[in-house]
Amino acid sequence: MTATVVIGAQWGDEGKGKITDMLAAESDVVARYGGGDNAGHTVVVGGDTFKLHLVPSGILYPHVVCVLGGGMVVNPRRLLQEMDGLAARGVDVSAARLLLSAQAHLILPYHIALDGAAERSRGKSALGTTKRGIGPAYADKAARSGIRAGEMRDPSAFAERVRAAVITKNELLTRLYGQEPLPAEEIAREYQEYAVRLAPHLADTSSFLVEALHAGKRLLCEGAQGTLLDLDHGTYPYVTSSYPTVGGALVGLGLGPQHLTRIIGVTKAYQTRVGAGPFPTELLDADGDHLVEVGHEYGTTTGRRRRAGWLDAVALRYAVQVNGLSELALTKLDVLGGLDPLRIAVAYTCDGETLTRFPADAAMLARCQPVYEELSGWEEDISAARAFDDLPQAARAYVARIEELAGVPATLISVGPEREQTICR
Ligand code: IMP
Repeated sequence: MTATVVIGAQWGDEGKGKITDMLAAESDVVARYGGGDNAGHTVVVGGDTFKLHLVPSGILYPHVVCVLGGGMVVNPRRLLQEMDGLAARGVDVSAARLLLSAQAHLILPYHIALDGAAERSRGKSALGTTKRGIGPAYADKAARSGIRAGEMRDPSAFAERVRAAVITKNELLTRLYGQEPLPAEEIAREYQEYAVRLAPHLADTSSFLVEALHAGKRLLCEGAQGTLLDLDHGTYPYVTSSYPTVGGALVGLGLGPQHLTRIIGVTKAYQTRVGAGPFPTELLDADGDHLVEVGHEYGTTTGRRRRAGWLDAVALRYAVQVNGLSELALTKLDVLGGLDPLRIAVAYTCDGETLTRFPADAAMLARCQPVYEELSGWEEDISAARAFDDLPQAARAYVARIEELAGVPATLISVGPEREQTICR
């Protein structure tokens, strides 16, 4: 009976997909606990690349059962597209292997339209959302007006609910945002078909997971986004609308904390962020370009160029704090090859003071300047390293310093996108 949680320790895009995929080999069940198709998880298997947005990465192992948890917001159209794409590549996505929590909320076309309209109306203060309807869907959930996946059990009643909801939201779209109304009848018909297809996948996933744990199964809880995008603990309002932290895993899956045996924080060896918001260690120079180009820092979901900078150990310590991380998975260490010296932010200066704690206040964080520590870089290509001792001395020292600053060990170190390009310690 073990449950491992994989959590993004930064602003998302840490390489959770690869780490989850690796850990899924030794799991029986992989469950996503939050977010929606704003996430993009890339898994490379034998030269084949799979880009997953909703379906847990564990789907690529035939022995694993995958769960979309109740904390998620699910766009049925995108879920079915992803399932069809996987099926066309020979992956079994039958109801026996892919369960959808009846409690998950659905993303409907009006959520997407409202996400875009709200971003446009914010003008220069836009958050840079993925425009997937995430915020408006979670807002409906909190306002108790959302439509849950379980309603798809009765496709014709569901279609009527969708039709009525589109008509209501059209008021907002047309009157507040001056947009064209969405076609209610057409959308209701389309979503009725989705309901027929998805109904067999619906389940009480909390019971399923807890029974699986009691039966001795190994559960892997797959996070999306990252700690610094958490609605409460992130850099509000430049956050997503869900809880990518450990509490989100428990609420999003309906589990008690006693099941958790490992809480793994995934962090890149440097820092990236996509969308707006403060980023103290951001680099706007050639070193930043190196990180973006060598690290292929373009969004899986939106294709946007990510912002990049030096590793922020103040933020990393904060991720250890709010999640109770037991260990780190350090990714993309290979990308740093050729940069010398390397820098890590170990504190900030803000309003004339030195801060060693992360201020979870976006306005204050925007005034913070990083205090850097310099470390030696390395020239070697480390992508073939499979053991810690295969790494050059400077790379070993860089990892050791991160462990010291974070206060937890880096048990996995990734040196390339392929499954086997990983050092397990
Ligand atoms: P939303 O989740 O689409 O509402 O976007 C809110 C913020 O979270 C934006 O800054 C997005 O760029 C960011 N975001 C959402 N999902 C991800 C992700 O999977 N990786 C990185 N950033 C994300």
